[in-house]
Amino acid sequence: MMDWTDRHCRVFHRLMTRRARLYTEMLTTGAIIHGDRARLLGFDQSEHPVALQLGGSDPRDLATAAGIGEDFGYDEINLNVGCPSDRVKDGRFGACLMAEPELVAKGVAAMKRAVKIPVTVKCRIGIDDQDSETALDRLARGVIAAGADALIVHARKAWLNGLSPKQNRDIPPLDYDRVYRLKVAMPDVPVIINGGIGSVAEAKQHLAHVDGVMLGRAAYQDPWRLLNVDADLFGEPAPHAGMKDVFEAMMPYIEDQLAQGARLHSMTRHFVGAFHGVPGARAFRRHLAENGVRQGAGVNVLRDAIALVEDRKMASIAA
Ligand SMILES: Cc1cc2nc3c(=O)[nH]c(=O)nc-3n(C[C@H](O)[C@H](O)[C@H](O)COP(=O)(O)O)c2cc1C
Repeated sequence: MMDWTDRHCRVFHRLMTRRARLYTEMLTTGAIIHGDRARLLGFDQSEHPVALQLGGSDPRDLATAAGIGEDFGYDEINLNVGCPSDRVKDGRFGACLMAEPELVAKGVAAMKRAVKIPVTVKCRIGIDDQDSETALDRLARGVIAAGADALIVHARKAWLNGLSPKQNRDIPPLDYDRVYRLKVAMPDVPVIINGGIGSVAEAKQHLAHVDGVMLGRAAYQDPWRLLNVDADLFGEPAPHAGMKDVFEAMMPYIEDQLAQGARLHSMTRHFVGAFHGVPGARAFRRHLAENGVRQGAGVNVLRDAIALVEDRKMASIAA
């Protein structure tokens, strides 16, 4: 998620679930082809399986960027056909491409020719006054015919005229049934549903209709929910029994990043929701906010913050 997630966040999330697939924020083909690749694309080996999300529409650029992503070691290339921001609309990528299914299909075909790893598409159910029955169907059939390996569908339209990106994540109504119907119409295609899903328990209900569930804001704002993913959805033990163990396991990574010049705050900013609702959570957050941003702040700041809060044990988490 642009401006929210990054590689540090993904390392943190991976310590709570071995099985969930993690996605980068959208990176434009232009940035990848012309920018500082090590900074934009570098990631920690612990993050696997991790997908690189691309924003773009030129098939040649998409193929080039996908190849670069594969060479970096990503496990999947995902094309963004759902982001509604103006910046993105002007560049002809993101949700506006729902109106250009043939171009999206050409992009997918070009990426499939360029890489061996799976290529997937994340889209909306439609935009503006499109009929979401035909618009989603056309996009889905086009990209699947072009070789796409799975579809992730944010179960609401994007209204490109008049709503801000933030409003476009809440105001157009959710239509989960539309995504379920896509799965019925294309039973052999892996369909992953996204949008407004607030917990692992809710995710489980969707899995009666589709193949996968993508959590955005719930995973970021309440990361502790991820501690239940492996047990509740995959029948496997959680990597750690509680949040304090997760942080203990993260310490070597944080120390390593600090030694390479990263600021403590660039990592601890992702921890704000870790203890939501647990006694001491506010003191934990305040300690990090006040001390984590100081020049030269080290892991002791995080350790002191953790000492102010009770643990969040997995057993106490209602999924
Ligand atoms: C701050 C922010 C940044 C986002 N950036 C991206 C992005 O880079 N790529 C993407 O596919 N979706 C992005 N999204 C949308 C989410 O992935 C997701 O589709 C949307 O928030 C609905 O799912 P949720 O209700 O589970 O959050 C972003 C959402 C937020 C809140």
